[in-house]
Amino acid sequence: MTKHRVRTVERYTRRTRWYHAAVYITVLALLGTGWWLLTGREGQPSPAARLTGVADVTLHTYAGWVLTGLTAVAVTLGARAARTFMVESVRVDKGDLRWFIRWPVAVVTGRFSHHRGHFDPGQRVANLVLVTLLAALVASGVGLTMVVGGPGFVWLQRVHRWATYLITPVLAGHILIAAGLLPGYRGVARAMHLGGRLRIDTARRVWPGWLDRRLAEDDEDDQQPRPAGDSPD
Ligand code: HEM
Ligand code: HEM
Repeated sequence: MTKHRVRTVERYTRRTRWYHAAVYITVLALLGTGWWLLTGREGQPSPAARLTGVADVTLHTYAGWVLTGLTAVAVTLGARAARTFMVESVRVDKGDLRWFIRWPVAVVTGRFSHHRGHFDPGQRVANLVLVTLLAALVASGVGLTMVVGGPGFVWLQRVHRWATYLITPVLAGHILIAAGLLPGYRGVARAMHLGGRLRIDTARRVWPGWLDRRLAEDDEDDQQPRPAGDSPD
């Protein structure tokens, strides 16, 4: 850990932060154009369509291919990170139930129950729901670009619509929490923005087990043998 005036700790690397930003800009564009189409305004161009001169369906499909590409990057180039993400999202430790029981009050007071994960137990559930629904949206969305009419189209459209209904409140919840708007989560937005460093007190409040491991890693790095000559061997 570098010595800053306010002690901070790196939570996510620049690569992860840029990947997350690319995903959310794309997903927000898909939600915007998707809801525009869903509410039956297909004939009426949205402000984005008027600005670009491209129809909403086309804008949506372009953004859909971008998200499909980003998904492909996650499972190929980002396979190791994706695996760690999944392993950390399915973990269950003793005490996680107590974390959930205390959560509704802790979002206001900041007094979360201890947990050991990289993600808190609530994030783990949200991650699994998000991955499942995004996978359903990408699969059914790609299907919709290939099938024209018939029962297949109707079925794909049903999956695509339901996944949209379900993912919208989950994403709204994620943004509310991750933007640090609730008092208990104040300061967490910096994990993914403006350098990816958290204040130590924020990290201790929200991710105590992760922080202990992270600080222990830094101590180990500090104790690495010095360059030739310095080491007793
Ligand atoms: C966050 C992800 C996504 C959301 C929230 C979303 C949402 C929606 C919604 C609400 C509709 C309108 C459905 C209706 O009118 O019944 C729609 C249509 C559609 N979506 Fe998506 N979508 C997403 C991702 C994708 C992806 C990855 C693709 C694939 C390239 C895609 C391709 C399409 C297509 C082809 C249509 C049909 C357009 C039409 O002909 O009416 N979507 N989407
Ligand atoms: C709309 C699409 C978005 C998707 C699909 C998405 C997805 C994710 C996922 C899967 C994570 C991993 C851990 C977690 O569940 O917290 C994450 C973390 C995070 N997201 Fe998002 N996100 C989106 C939008 C946003 C927005 C708009 C913000 C802005 C405030 C944001 C801020 C964060 C932050 C600060 C973290 C780090 C939390 C941590 O340190 O573990 N996200 N996001």
